[in-house]
Amino acid sequence: MNDPNSSKISFEDILDSKILVVDDEESNAKLLEYLLMRNGYRSVHWTTDPREALQIYQEFRPDLVLLDLEMPHMDGIEVMEKLQEIERETYPSIVVITANNNDDVRIRSLASGAMDFLAKPFNGVEVVARINNILNVRQLHNRVNHQNKILDQKIRERTRELTDSRLEIVQRLSRAAECRDNETGMHVIRMSRYSYLLAEAMGLSINQCELLQHASPMHDIGKIGIPDSILLKPGKLNATEWEIMKSHSEIGGQILSGSGSGSNLLQMAESIAYTHHEKWDGSGYPHGLKGEDIPLEGRIVAICDVFDALTTGRPYKKAWPVEKAVQELKDNSGISFDPLLVNKFIEILPQILKVKDSCKDQQSAEGSNGLGVAQLSCS
Ligand SMILES: [Fe+2]
Ligand SMILES: [Fe+2]
Repeated sequence: MNDPNSSKISFEDILDSKILVVDDEESNAKLLEYLLMRNGYRSVHWTTDPREALQIYQEFRPDLVLLDLEMPHMDGIEVMEKLQEIERETYPSIVVITANNNDDVRIRSLASGAMDFLAKPFNGVEVVARINNILNVRQLHNRVNHQNKILDQKIRERTRELTDSRLEIVQRLSRAAECRDNETGMHVIRMSRYSYLLAEAMGLSINQCELLQHASPMHDIGKIGIPDSILLKPGKLNATEWEIMKSHSEIGGQILSGSGSGSNLLQMAESIAYTHHEKWDGSGYPHGLKGEDIPLEGRIVAICDVFDALTTGRPYKKAWPVEKAVQELKDNSGISFDPLLVNKFIEILPQILKVKDSCKDQQSAEGSNGLGVAQLSCS
């Protein structure tokens, strides 16, 4: 029995091969069929009309085609060219049958994909020996292809598992930081999806948009380093406390910096953590960067972060209506925010509101889990 995972080809495997004969002389086709069947081959198909060869090939899926060169309607070279067109990945093994010893014909046949020649009139022993050899190579080739496909599939699965688990860790880490001052972790989910949409509207590649979506939830990771007395203070912060609060950008940037693995995700997350409180007019922190000196990812996240914070309720404040939040973005366009990005954000507002509606803050039936984390899924 043919075991596709075994590295050995048995003679039985070879005899299981399917062979298609295309020869306009019926007597030749029948002779080849007879020779092959007598030597144990079980699956031989023949046709005398080369125009039918392609259709039969597609239905029969032979391992080997024995192809006459001189035929009416379509010669062997043309048949090979057509086979090449339909079978780019696993080009079939083709052996040309010819009574023509002309070098030109042989070279053209080889250039068109023939693996070998069988000279007419046939020497039965030689024909079968050559076909056995070619099919042995063919079966080995099939087996290697099959094993490569399995390996490819396994590598893809492992890579996906690694990517998924890395993203999950990132999301959980972001939630850990977020739930220190938020009722739920939905804020990071929403703002990261808004960031994806805004990046997409700016014409960034899908890869960059996805990177931004996965990196942006870590924008406030630095809040881990802010004392509760400041982070959770109900009233206004005094000047000293505010300076400490502001340091979360740099703390976050430092936590995420120096990715030894050269991870694009961590590099982008670092940039966002550092720059999401920079302002277009240079009045932001920590470095007072101005205009396009602020990395695009920082400018995108600044808008999405503020819009979500404004339009959702917190224990100490009510959610603003969308119109009021949009007006706030407009009022701060060119001051806090990149004017081009504000315009784009307003252009894609219908998509933003869809995300907002599908990712509402919701406490689970049992209430939060003690960490202040509620259910984290969008409908
Ligand atoms: Fe922040
Ligand atoms: Fe935030």
